[in-house]
Amino acid sequence: MHITFADSLPADAALIASIANKDSLPDGIEPVLAEAVKRGRFKGTAGQLVEGFVERDGKVVRVALAGAGDAGAKDRRANLEKAGGALAAKFVASGETSLALDLTGSDLSAEDAAALLLGLRLRAWRWDEYRTTQKESEKASLKNVVVIGTPEGTQDAWTRESALAQGVEFTKELITLPANILYPESFVERCRDALDGTGIEITVLDDAEMEKLGMGALLGVGQGSDRPSRILAMRWNGGAEGEKPTLFVGKGVTFDSGGISIKPGAGMEDMKWDMGGAGAVAGAMVALAKRKAKANVVGVCGLVENMPDGKAQRPGDVVTTMSGQTVEVINTDAEGRLVLADALHWAQEEYKPAAVVDLATLTGAMLIALGHEQAGLFSNDDTLAQRLQAAGEASGDKVWRMPIGPAYDKLIDSPIADMKNVGPREAGSITAAQFLKRFIKDGTPWAHLDIAGMAWSNKPGATYGKGATGYGVRLLDQYVRDVIES
Ligand code: BES
Ligand code: MN
Ligand code: ZN
Repeated sequence: MHITFADSLPADAALIASIANKDSLPDGIEPVLAEAVKRGRFKGTAGQLVEGFVERDGKVVRVALAGAGDAGAKDRRANLEKAGGALAAKFVASGETSLALDLTGSDLSAEDAAALLLGLRLRAWRWDEYRTTQKESEKASLKNVVVIGTPEGTQDAWTRESALAQGVEFTKELITLPANILYPESFVERCRDALDGTGIEITVLDDAEMEKLGMGALLGVGQGSDRPSRILAMRWNGGAEGEKPTLFVGKGVTFDSGGISIKPGAGMEDMKWDMGGAGAVAGAMVALAKRKAKANVVGVCGLVENMPDGKAQRPGDVVTTMSGQTVEVINTDAEGRLVLADALHWAQEEYKPAAVVDLATLTGAMLIALGHEQAGLFSNDDTLAQRLQAAGEASGDKVWRMPIGPAYDKLIDSPIADMKNVGPREAGSITAAQFLKRFIKDGTPWAHLDIAGMAWSNKPGATYGKGATGYGVRLLDQYVRDVIES
């Protein structure tokens, strides 16, 4: 979708939209909309929408009004995204090809206007590449948005937000792609393409290199697959020279069958998005590089496919991680933590980060605890945890802090190795976090985000349709803006 700015309404505008705050209609509203407001119980709550048709200069024009909530709301930004999202949801496949968004006389700041546009653009994203028999009437039609009456500075604000939109869209694409298309090698290639020309530094480790480094845990997961494993590192040096980078690490299991501890068939197709953490990290790097963030950030993705096979690892196997610690693999379906153990250790050695944040669709137990509203946050550092919580509130990608501690840690001790890869059924998300913590160097601030409930949605939300949500990209971008860049 193409968003441009103009000084006045295009002469041929066929669809004109504006926004209204809660309980306050814009001045000079078309009578037909005023009537629609009354008849349609429109209050201006965020995401509400009314429309109508009016005659202007002998032509019939479609007009719409989207609700943006209270002007002073704490979550104003999220509300404006909802307003933009509502317009996109309504008109993306409506047959209209162009939308004129009239912000004349609105009380929006430049940042507000950019948030509105971000919602509009994100909600319009869809993946129709594999639909060859889609009816003409179902295809996306809305191609252009022309914005008029924007507050000063909107174009600059939008330049920044549109980089973020590209990042979120890239993440949604990675998450949407099926596992026969997206596997470790093709994940890397897609990232190379998306980051081409940005000046980001890319490092890739293949099986042989990881073998040499002693990454027995990550390679153990990948060994049942015909697809070779990869580690992908994307380094963005936009900050002060010599300043330690912030490290983002993502779980990139491009398909999680469970391995020999195979998952039940029903719903197994969902495990194509078990690379959601790596997808979010890759999308965040796209956003940061495209908007030339003034920050040093490294994004690392641990990429493997978890498959059952004659060569696959078995329950009971003991593997040695790059850190030297050994792990008894009780359940081959607890593979994400094995991948992250080596990816985290390698990345800390390689980049000496100031702080580490990992993202992973790590445990089903996380969904049980928090549902699809917030990701679980586990951290050894209160400052880092608070900053992530604040970034979550500001960006709409919310996180909820969960406990960790020695009593939970004990639950993954093994009688034969340094640790086992699963604890008891209870506190499953916490013991998974404790496992990761054993691979974090003393004194390094670290946070783990279990995004199992967030990467995919079975129903549409404000900034996504049914499917990939793009969760995590806005959170990481916000964190970089608020903590590193300011
Ligand atoms: N990728 C799954 C977790 C998951 C489940 C994410 C459902 C999203 C939706 C992970 O690899 C896994 O299988 N975890 C196991 C761990 C268990 C064996 C200790 C789980 O949660 O059941
Ligand atoms: Mn698994
Ligand atoms: Zn998994």
